[in-house]
Amino acid sequence: MMIDFRLAQDPELFFEMHVFVCCNRRPDGHKRGSCAARGSEALRDYMKVRAKELGIANVRINSAGCLDRCEVGPCVVIYPSGIWYKIETTADVDLVLAAHVAAGGRAETCMIDV
Ligand code: FES
Repeated sequence: MMIDFRLAQDPELFFEMHVFVCCNRRPDGHKRGSCAARGSEALRDYMKVRAKELGIANVRINSAGCLDRCEVGPCVVIYPSGIWYKIETTADVDLVLAAHVAAGGRAETCMIDV
């Protein structure tokens, strides 16, 4: 007997987007470094505050563990689009929020090539 795993229809998205900010921290001197050592925790905190101030709703900003692109961090990946960003400053965070999260476009100057 064959089991049909297909759903008739996916449920609606619970959140429109998930923004994952890598907050992994490695010990000082580790050869790969880490996003937290490059300031990602403060940038995540800033992003959460700014998103609220901008009235961005239905988007979840999450701390993430290592996203395995440590050398190019601090890393952010946004789903469902799967676009990666490097955020180094609060201005980068503002750009990602404005261009990608709020407007649905791309913050091209911060994008990480695949
Ligand atoms: S430490 Fe951030 S991607 Fe690995």
